[in-house]
Amino acid sequence: MFNAHSIRAVRRHTGYRVMSKAQSKVMMSGTDVQAMRAELQALAGRPEDAPWGLAGRFYTDPAFFEEECNGPLADGWYCLARADELPHAGDFLTLELMGEPLILVRDDTRIRALSNVCRHRGMPLVQGQGNSSRFVCPYHAWTYGTDGALMRAARMKNADFDAASCRLPEFETAERFGFVYVSLAANPPDLDAALTGLGDLISPYAPEAYRIVHAATEVWQTNWKCLVENFMEGYHLSVVHPETLHGYTPTGLSRKGPNGPGFTSYFANYPRDIPSRGMGAPGLDDDARHRSTLFAVFPAQVASIAASLLVSLSLFPQGPGAVRVRWTMSVHGDDLDDETIAARIALWEEVNREDREKLEAMQQALNSVHATGGPLAGDDYEGTVRDFQTWLAGQI
Ligand code: FES
Ligand SMILES: [Fe+2]
Repeated sequence: MFNAHSIRAVRRHTGYRVMSKAQSKVMMSGTDVQAMRAELQALAGRPEDAPWGLAGRFYTDPAFFEEECNGPLADGWYCLARADELPHAGDFLTLELMGEPLILVRDDTRIRALSNVCRHRGMPLVQGQGNSSRFVCPYHAWTYGTDGALMRAARMKNADFDAASCRLPEFETAERFGFVYVSLAANPPDLDAALTGLGDLISPYAPEAYRIVHAATEVWQTNWKCLVENFMEGYHLSVVHPETLHGYTPTGLSRKGPNGPGFTSYFANYPRDIPSRGMGAPGLDDDARHRSTLFAVFPAQVASIAASLLVSLSLFPQGPGAVRVRWTMSVHGDDLDDETIAARIALWEEVNREDREKLEAMQQALNSVHATGGPLAGDDYEGTVRDFQTWLAGQI
């Protein structure tokens, strides 16, 4: 994809002279994943006052995407739902995570993530969302409890089969802040260690008390990292969202928030002369009532929490150029009436549309040899992009 000529051309056209000889040598080897790894490490190691974005092929190259699938995307914790989407025993919803069909189900004790693949010959057991005390396979009627144990396999006589010990594979789950996280890894990384510091940041909002009012799924034709970066930087707010967000969260008031081993954050502050939007949790301080706190839990959750509103996007990478987005909106107590909630949903639909339009256009351009990556703005505007880059470099 790249050669010495095109690198020189890039430099001529862009005026960028930020790469060392070693780095440009790395670029010349094109899609070699080994070289891209080294380039990522070099970028993450740049001085704090000179951050630089990833080149386009980090977002478009199938080989690099495969590398991610075998690394951070394979082992990570994914936010799949809000816990109050499954309030009663037997409530379930189905989804696919990194190619694995899953049933997220509340049994008598907790929410479990079960494989949605029948242990007989592999039929998906259930689709969509609902409530059931058992899952009956639509093919030969093997029946499983909500804990995944096989309850019945009619007419099955086989000397090598032990029905009593047969159960659906189960994946690790964890509930934090009212979100349900799932990891496909046999030995998942320590979620609490990854989130060290996030609790201090968002616990004052009492996030587990928010109640869900909306969920929707759509597919965006963009790389999953572009969506993380876009959601997590305030630099674009006033440009991309002049009507929808600028009045409340102008770029100029964006401030970097804390980051930790597996998360980053920033504050989208409201101008002081506009009223706060709901009181939120008791004890929430005035500053917190006058801003939205945006945070990312790597690899694939981005969210915005404010006094009365919580919006979270769960990302399900589908390939280098596509990501399924499941987004939810939750509200705090009775702060907002139905009409206001409907207006907030409509607003976020529009905000998502504005972001999606930009990201889908950018995804095309990132295929260009001239998509070499560019300088990132300071901490308050794109410091979170640098945090994400640093995290990714640590994973790959
Ligand atoms: S595939 Fe499920 S019972 Fe046969
Ligand atoms: Fe945006």
